[in-house]
Amino acid sequence: MKHLILFGIQGSGKGTQAAKIVKEFPAYKHIEMGDILRGLKGMDNHLGNYFKQIDQGKYVSDSVTTAIFDIFMSIMEKGEYMLMDGFPRTKQQMYLFMDRMFRSKMEFEVILLDIPKDISLQRLDQRQFYRKDGYVYHIRNRHDLEFATEHGYEIFHREDDNAAAVEKRLQQHIKLTLPVIEYFKELGLLHVVDATRTPEEIYEDIRKIITKA
Ligand code: AP5
Ligand code: MG
Repeated sequence: MKHLILFGIQGSGKGTQAAKIVKEFPAYKHIEMGDILRGLKGMDNHLGNYFKQIDQGKYVSDSVTTAIFDIFMSIMEKGEYMLMDGFPRTKQQMYLFMDRMFRSKMEFEVILLDIPKDISLQRLDQRQFYRKDGYVYHIRNRHDLEFATEHGYEIFHREDDNAAAVEKRLQQHIKLTLPVIEYFKELGLLHVVDATRTPEEIYEDIRKIITKA
């Protein structure tokens, strides 16, 4: 096994596939950058205010995300592997990431969940969450929806899943993240997976990549 980076536009299924990977391969530790930033946004102070920009779909500064990555890397233990979802997203983040990986002699694979914009937009439109005891849970299927409804838990959409923020996220992906993906492709590290299929079919391809690596 090697460390893994998941790339893909918003709604391509990074979080969905990461959950499957971690379930079968618990040695993978999921670093979901967007989720960490949403957690920080929840603070009612100056720091929390800074992170509210993600609701408009803006990328936060490289120094913030790279500091979070460094913290995450510092708590990795022997036999654990990083599963990166949403990092690195800019060339600056990629340079720091490559530097850390090179120095620590850590190898990694890169997977792009490939999906056209229109399908991803449909998925985001339908994506829902519920809140239970202060925690946020993704409604992944009918069972989750029934559970949340039965218990009267608050069901909601993510704040950056509105049309303007989705467009901003996509534009930033094209401008800032595509060059990173291109770079990994040139290095011969990129696996492109057709992410228009069912989550199970997509996961089968990912599984093959993980077990071969
Ligand atoms: P982040 O939370 O990472 O958002 P994103 O990249 O836009 O991706 P999403 O989480 O929206 O989609 P996903 O690919 O995880 O799809 P999911 O599995 O949920 O980042 C949020 C923000 O934080 C960024 O916009 C930025 O502001 C900031 N940020 C984060 N990292 C940063 C960084 N490194 N630098 C600077 N800023 C950063 O699936 C979507 C839906 O589709 C779900 O409802 C799911 O159930 C469904 N679905 C999934 N797969 C399938 C399938 N195969 N068939 C049918 N439905 C499916
Ligand atoms: Mg996600």
